[in-house]
Amino acid sequence: MIPPKPPSRRGKGSVWRFIRDFRGDILSAQSDRLYRAWMAEFRGPFIHSFTCNDPQLVDLVLRRRPMDFPKSPRMAAGLQPLLGNSSFISNGATWLHQRRIIDIAFAGGRLREAFPAMWDASEAAVARLAPLADGTETDIEPQTGHVAADVIFRSLFSIPIEDQVASQVFDAFREHQAAQPMVNLGGLLTLPRWARLHGRNVRTSARRIRGLIQSLIRERAERIAAGTAPADLATKIMTTPDPVTQKRFTDKEMVDEVATFFLAGHETSASALAWALYLLAEYPEWQDRVADEAERALTPDFACVKQLEISRAVFRETLRLYPPVAMTVRECRHATSLRDRKAPAGAQVVLSPWHLHRHQRLWDNPDGFDPGRWQTENGKICQRDAYIPFSAGARACPGAGFAMIEGPLILSALVRAYRLDPPAEPPVPVMRLTLRGKNGIRLRLTPR
Ligand code: HEM
Repeated sequence: MIPPKPPSRRGKGSVWRFIRDFRGDILSAQSDRLYRAWMAEFRGPFIHSFTCNDPQLVDLVLRRRPMDFPKSPRMAAGLQPLLGNSSFISNGATWLHQRRIIDIAFAGGRLREAFPAMWDASEAAVARLAPLADGTETDIEPQTGHVAADVIFRSLFSIPIEDQVASQVFDAFREHQAAQPMVNLGGLLTLPRWARLHGRNVRTSARRIRGLIQSLIRERAERIAAGTAPADLATKIMTTPDPVTQKRFTDKEMVDEVATFFLAGHETSASALAWALYLLAEYPEWQDRVADEAERALTPDFACVKQLEISRAVFRETLRLYPPVAMTVRECRHATSLRDRKAPAGAQVVLSPWHLHRHQRLWDNPDGFDPGRWQTENGKICQRDAYIPFSAGARACPGAGFAMIEGPLILSALVRAYRLDPPAEPPVPVMRLTLRGKNGIRLRLTPR
């Protein structure tokens, strides 16, 4: 069985065909040539873009000259009502300042401190799934969204998702997503600016989320001042000065970052976990291996993380086949050469983990599910050169280490408790803000 892959547009085709084919899903509007091409230039009525699949180009844009390829303002526009000018969309000196603080908060040693929050969230998720484990089909995406949001609240503010404010943020966030179905890369890339303006509902729901986050931050500031604050990520971020300027985050900056951690940290992990559970339902032999390993190694002790090798290989393979951030966009700050083409200043550079991770000239068995590949020569080379689920270079995801503990841990806990069986109809991947199933990701659960 080949894991589900959306249909691609055949061959080169015209711009107008691309626009006609584009119906809210940028993945199936792409040409099938991108699975073999090193680069593709695209000129549309509102865009001139270069999709880069050549590992050397990816290296250039992300690792060697990141400041020459800043985040595209097209991406920023869609996310600004909620994220303000957070690290996810800012550029230049502002972004450097934000990352200097965030990177300290997420540094290696602190992940150990976040482990109990992840553990508690995984136990709560196992309990929450019990009523659904009756062998009938269920959409697992809302469940993985729930547990991922729980992890974020517990590790940032030491509160579970059942907390009154946390659950209000979670609900308001879902409303925000519903009000803004066009915040996907397809919309941002293909539409002109006027077509991307935000409706009133979007602005209202973003304001509501930001107001709730503001109240959490105010309360935390009071506890920090009183010396009674827990030693969690929020306290760390709020008390860490930028080592260069000595400035701390202002309240407004802190709201921007918390909204970002919530968005970037929970949507992505929710997507990856849902696809991982689905894949395990389709591949019972890997499912049994994850369950056996969990039975042997899973304990409430941080040291167990290292032992979850099979679960980690499965999660890593899931991030290859179904990268939650399936595409991202940079902009050329200056005119430059990309392979043999001239890219003018302002041209968009599209990086597509979706295509890079399935590139036929790079990967053995590119569309197959094989968590064992990471032990092979080809898997090791590709992991280094053609695997960017967390992006790479200076702008790589600061939560990557966090996510690579959270994901395998929750996967192991769920698979130890439940047997997973596949649905009648496989899910169809579509790119919304993150990679989702067109009609959810369904599977069947029974107690193990
Ligand atoms: C499986 C889980 C995750 C995946 C696949 C993922 C992936 C990514 C990717 C690809 C980017 C770069 C986006 C771009 O270049 O357009 C990114 C950025 C970011 N992620 Fe993650 N992420 C995950 C989890 C997290 C978590 C748990 C957090 C924090 C709690 C987080 C916080 C951020 C932030 C703040 C940025 C912006 C970094 C910058 O631009 O400097 N992510 N993530």
